[in-house]
Amino acid sequence: MRAALKPFLLSLSLPLSLLAAGCSGGADKPAGEEAIVSPILTGEDAKDTASFAQPEVARVTHVALDLALDFAAKTVSGTATLDILAKPDADTIVLDSNGLKISRITDESGVELPFTVGARVEGKGEPVSVKIGKARTITIAYSAAPDAEALQWLAPQQTAGGKQPYLLSQGQATLNRSWIPTQDSPGIRQSWEARITAPKPLTVVMSALRVGEPEDVGDNRRAFRFRMDKPVAPYLIAIAAGDLAYRELGPRTGVWTEPSMLDAAAAELSDTEKMVEAAEKLYGPYRWGRYEMIVLPPSFPYGGMENPTMTFLTPTFIAGDRSLTGLVAHELAHSWSGNLVTNANWSDSWLNEGITSYFENRIVEELYGTKRAQQEAALSFAEMEKALAEAGKDAPITALHLPPAEGVPDGESSGIIYDKGATFMRTVESIVGREKFDAWLRNWFDKHAFQPATSAMLLADMRANLVKGDAALEKKLMLEDWIYKPGLPSNVIHPPASAFADVDKAAGAYRASGTPDAKAWGSWTTAERLRFLAKVPAKLDAAKLAALDSSLGLSRSGNKEILFAWLELALNNRYDPAVPVAEKFLSSVGRTKFVKPLYAALMKQGSWGQPIAKRIYAKNRAGYHGVTQGAVDEVVGKPA
Ligand code: BES
Ligand code: ZN
Repeated sequence: MRAALKPFLLSLSLPLSLLAAGCSGGADKPAGEEAIVSPILTGEDAKDTASFAQPEVARVTHVALDLALDFAAKTVSGTATLDILAKPDADTIVLDSNGLKISRITDESGVELPFTVGARVEGKGEPVSVKIGKARTITIAYSAAPDAEALQWLAPQQTAGGKQPYLLSQGQATLNRSWIPTQDSPGIRQSWEARITAPKPLTVVMSALRVGEPEDVGDNRRAFRFRMDKPVAPYLIAIAAGDLAYRELGPRTGVWTEPSMLDAAAAELSDTEKMVEAAEKLYGPYRWGRYEMIVLPPSFPYGGMENPTMTFLTPTFIAGDRSLTGLVAHELAHSWSGNLVTNANWSDSWLNEGITSYFENRIVEELYGTKRAQQEAALSFAEMEKALAEAGKDAPITALHLPPAEGVPDGESSGIIYDKGATFMRTVESIVGREKFDAWLRNWFDKHAFQPATSAMLLADMRANLVKGDAALEKKLMLEDWIYKPGLPSNVIHPPASAFADVDKAAGAYRASGTPDAKAWGSWTTAERLRFLAKVPAKLDAAKLAALDSSLGLSRSGNKEILFAWLELALNNRYDPAVPVAEKFLSSVGRTKFVKPLYAALMKQGSWGQPIAKRIYAKNRAGYHGVTQGAVDEVVGKPA
């Protein structure tokens, strides 16, 4: 199946300029070449210190996976065939691995190639150096470790149906090297294809278009085929397998989930097709063909992950009233900011997350109107202020462009790269005007489509296309301060004070009287309720907490964001009646954003909270994804 899929292999003498096209990107390259191989950036600021790859010497251009899922052994095994573009005299390619068991590497004619596995570096894995000689296609026979960091193997009891096992993956940022032997660096884009076999009746989905129908391969197994013909950053290769059903939502949109979840998921996601239309109207064509989503079991460690053509979603966004669908707008927006134009390395994560958070809010505005958009922007602004206050406004981690020493953002602390990033975009928008800003952003996506980008490139592009030599405008925008300096530039645009005027008044009244206004609460949106909970006093006694809970029904809330906000408040105040509710939440949800702060709240409460945290964690750690385990280990410690 592979031969037809790699036209670039026909021209083994591709010019080296394609291997390492410089910062100018591919804007003036002949059409067609982009599809063949996406350029890498060679500037110092584009270097990825989180990968062992040396793409200037030899780089992967295409990955073909042929893998079998084994739920009993918790392994993925088979072969990965890599197409390589290398300097004529290059005889070694360096790949990334994290615990892969490689049995054999061969060239196109089956001749074995020597390879060495280097020393393990914490958080980075180990380099695999393959002596390729003249070979430019290699096949790696391997299996992933049962505890591969990207993968979570769920027992049937951890699923909604309770009858079938489940597998899900999370690649960002550097986890895919635990199940795919390739160069795991966002600046080294690769097209890919896969053939995956799984036991019946499981269905496999991946972050690529399906090819044909599943095929019986005997032994009670089926094979599923996928193809991504666009070059993508390798962290975007994703897989899920389980008892899955599908429902179409629109001409190019649809949702996958377990059968018992399908009605609720489809209802919550009924605005998706309109979101794609709104996004296209804002910033240009959706270039990935289909936009499907999978609503995963609650152990998925994130709210969402923007895997191309197949956004991965936590079920905790299902509130019954579409009030948490900003998450979907966010993952969809990544189809431009992140998947189309991608941070070259993780120091520029804000290019993915900050621009996406801005774009998300614009989609929300189109679909749900200015009021909801302004309220969500105001919540995001408050998150940013909180992050700045916690880190201190001079802390280097409050700059958008992070020093490489800060490591790889894990999506956990989002106040800076997400919320300050979005605030930067909003500030530029308000200074230059929406029309000019939108034209600039659309052009940025078009020019760098399917390519990596850096902060320096974005800065240069804003200067060339927005500032255009206007010294007064340059001064007004404070671009360098925003991107490279810690803290908050003085030209920051604040959300309109009107966004939460009523709620803030009610919160003030509550602070004075100690009696919540249940009627007002009943009339509020989710954003307003979250704002109120953020504004109640941090210290409350048991009687006040009991009154809040009974009049607002917090412990019974079906909205996981509200339940989380309530539990955090309650645990911070050693409120005993909240413990069983928190325990139930922590036993059923693995989303790091919720789970880690609740454990942290308990751990802060000394002899009251620490035994509770340790007891609940010991019971539930095994059910969490490795990402969540790693995050909670930091606050609770590993259970003995
Ligand atoms: N790409 C991120 C998730 C991520 C970030 C994973 C960094 C690993 C490292 C995803 O798009 C995201 O931002 N998810 C948020 C959504 C929210 C901001 C709407 C989440 O999971 O909560
Ligand atoms: Zn994101």
